[in-house]
Amino acid sequence: MNTGRLAVDLAGLKLANPTMLASGILGYSAETLNSIAENGAGAVVTKSVGLKPRRGYPNPTVVQVDCGLINAMGLPNPGITEFAAEIRKTKAAINVPLIVSVYGYSEDEYAAVAKKAVEAGADAIELNVSCPHVKDTGSEIGQNPRVLDAVVKAVKAATDRQVFVKLSPNVTDITEIAGVAAKAGADALTVINTVRAMAIDAETAMPILSNERGGLSGSAMKPIAVRCVYDVYEHVKVPIVGCGGVADWRDAVEFLLAGASAVQIGTALALEGPEVFRAVTRGIDKYLRRKGFKSVNDVVGLSHRN
Ligand SMILES: Cc1cc2nc3c(=O)[nH]c(=O)nc-3n(C[C@H](O)[C@H](O)[C@H](O)COP(=O)(O)O)c2cc1C
Repeated sequence: MNTGRLAVDLAGLKLANPTMLASGILGYSAETLNSIAENGAGAVVTKSVGLKPRRGYPNPTVVQVDCGLINAMGLPNPGITEFAAEIRKTKAAINVPLIVSVYGYSEDEYAAVAKKAVEAGADAIELNVSCPHVKDTGSEIGQNPRVLDAVVKAVKAATDRQVFVKLSPNVTDITEIAGVAAKAGADALTVINTVRAMAIDAETAMPILSNERGGLSGSAMKPIAVRCVYDVYEHVKVPIVGCGGVADWRDAVEFLLAGASAVQIGTALALEGPEVFRAVTRGIDKYLRRKGFKSVNDVVGLSHRN
């Protein structure tokens, strides 16, 4: 594979290919993150980590539905102090950029977690301002332009690394939120987190997830994510990382054509295994050669040309 053709630069963060591990699909261990890098991911994003440890919701936290998953994990995590050791270990082991996803309940918390993550070796930060199922954080931050502006500014002031802001589709106008994040200093936008959803068991007549409502991921959400990327591309200049339902090279190319400079993969990894990164990368490379493009960057946003 010609890595030059596949190389992307996300606001100074250099990836050998445009595929990334999406946040939360795997645990926090250096071993698993490293195995994803060895399986060909251009970068890895950790599960979201907060200031203090959090237990998350009781089971069931994930349910498989047609063409995807619905999850409400409740952001279980060991807290940044304990996780910092794992970040150090991961950084020493992997040879691709390590992006640490952080969440908080205030701008100061987001900034404190991001600062500690960078001190431990994070190459960049992704702000989870879009988790659809935990009160007072996640999408409750990302749906409020004033609070989002303060969070992004606080994190940018606390670190000199690239800050990705992961947007929620569960808003009236994602372009307004994208504009706020970009204006506040976001270096890149990850578009999108899961779509609010639920599943009910016909036999028990009860919601399946312990939290009742959760977030839909996988192929079922892909057309929503592609539309969001397409809309955001027309409104902001910062690089976009597409996320939602990428399972093969054709899905990835669709996101690139809509305006994404790279894609994240989550559910397909859970359902199909880590080979998905190499398969998607090879497929993009073949597509570029077949169509006569010298670089993956040449197709970013191409569907907007008319
Ligand atoms: C089990 C599970 C856990 C997740 N945990 C997180 C998380 O901790 N932080 C976050 O920003 N996104 C989280 N996500 C959302 C994914 O990163 C991604 O945005 C979403 O699944 C859509 O991509 P996909 O269709 O490739 O899975 C999670 C998704 C799943 C399925």
